[in-house]
Amino acid sequence: MTAMRRATGAAGGARRLEGRLVALGVTGSIAAYKAVELLRLLTAEGADVVVLLSASAARFVGPLSFAALSRHPVETELMELLPDGRIGHVVIADSADAIVVAPATAHWLGAMANGLAGDVVTAACLATSAPVVVAPAMDGDMWTHPATRSNVARLRDAFGYAVVEPGSGPLASGQSGVGRLAELPAIVDAVVAAIGDRPVRQPAVDARPPLVAGLPREADLVGRHVVVTAGGTREPIDPVRYIGNRSSGKMGVAIAEAALDRGASVTLIAADVSVPLPDERARVVRVETTGQLRGALLEALFGGGGGGGAPSPLAARFDALVMAAAVADFTPAAPADRKLARGESLSLELRPTPDLLAEVARIVRGLDGEGSETREPVTPTPLLVGFAAETGSLERAGAKLRAKRLDLLVANDVAEAGSGFGTDTNRVVILDAAGGRDELPLLSKREVADRILDRVAGALDDRDAASQTAGMQEASR
Ligand code: CTP
Repeated sequence: MTAMRRATGAAGGARRLEGRLVALGVTGSIAAYKAVELLRLLTAEGADVVVLLSASAARFVGPLSFAALSRHPVETELMELLPDGRIGHVVIADSADAIVVAPATAHWLGAMANGLAGDVVTAACLATSAPVVVAPAMDGDMWTHPATRSNVARLRDAFGYAVVEPGSGPLASGQSGVGRLAELPAIVDAVVAAIGDRPVRQPAVDARPPLVAGLPREADLVGRHVVVTAGGTREPIDPVRYIGNRSSGKMGVAIAEAALDRGASVTLIAADVSVPLPDERARVVRVETTGQLRGALLEALFGGGGGGGAPSPLAARFDALVMAAAVADFTPAAPADRKLARGESLSLELRPTPDLLAEVARIVRGLDGEGSETREPVTPTPLLVGFAAETGSLERAGAKLRAKRLDLLVANDVAEAGSGFGTDTNRVVILDAAGGRDELPLLSKREVADRILDRVAGALDDRDAASQTAGMQEASR
């Protein structure tokens, strides 16, 4: 199971570092390999982690493992600039909510105590105003040496750093004593405590450390059929005019592309979109109106109407539906079949469109229009993901998730800068049916897509594991 999967698995409970950017400084101790697991634990608590590696640490663990797990390029060279010309350790110092140095060698403690910024880890610590947590690891005699004692005291007392003392046990030298890197959960606890209730910094995307470009997620959606809707529907007023909305379709298309990259077979039902569609890799169905979207959706999901005379239990033709389309809420009651001529005024009678997602959810859960059970739920249970574009507070989002009977709801404030229609970035909150709330930082739409699919892939794996266990119990009866 990957770090990402575990991270999302923990999302039901409160993740203590949600929305935080944590810089992990690794220096050249034999315990450097433990920093990989520490990264996983920090990620599982919801942190976005960026790694700084001293040159000697890189001889123990290569930057590639850290880059793959953190999805950020690893900062190793003090004198090298980021591809966009920024100074990496300064970007990290300015954007991180905390820096944790683990393992910290005796040499590093000495350099830090004296402000000798000869490596990226010391340089970032010198340049930051964020809390710093230090977890030393070294041989027992080095730890008790007066030089180390005074360096540690300086870091703790003069700089205000939190020091997670090493534990005792067998050491790399073959001896036994105090000097082993502290237990990793204790280091995570120290990071959580050091950040405390400081406000989340969450700087704009261009002030954060860059992401590794194109690092693929694992192929965790192979064998899954994911249906995605994207773009805004258009409701005709007459043959040339329509009521539309400002959706660009970027978010839905990013989800379709991310799902394809993770091995899913994808049906993309696209209403009005202003971005190119992945039509060579996905099955793309173009629609214009809400009525057409409904028809295409029911066809892709259930092979037709999904109600009335359909067999019960109905088999799902899909594993997950991600409903990113901006569906018109109203449609002209009587669209004119000829172009309307200009007149003094024009009144349009609008009638509400059916709530497509709620309708799909009712079919999946075997309910009728009133919400009473009338048939077996669809098997295996597909996952339903809705979007809620709100302006201002996201308070209504939880009620929407329940009213529409969804598994996940991705809510965003479309009035916020950098979020919403036409932008390349989005800041969303993912709500789940168990009451979990995952507040993501401002991310590229592609990264948001992958975070949503992390949840989808994890939930589908859990679904299959649960039905396998149920099957085994059944068979053993
Ligand atoms: N949706 C739908 N059918 C509609 C309207 C919306 O399937 N007629 C879906 C959207 O694709 C989205 C989710 O429902 O995934 C929430 O859409 P939103 O417009 O935020 O919610 P509404 O139910 O329309 O509520 P309101 O407009 O009152 O905010």
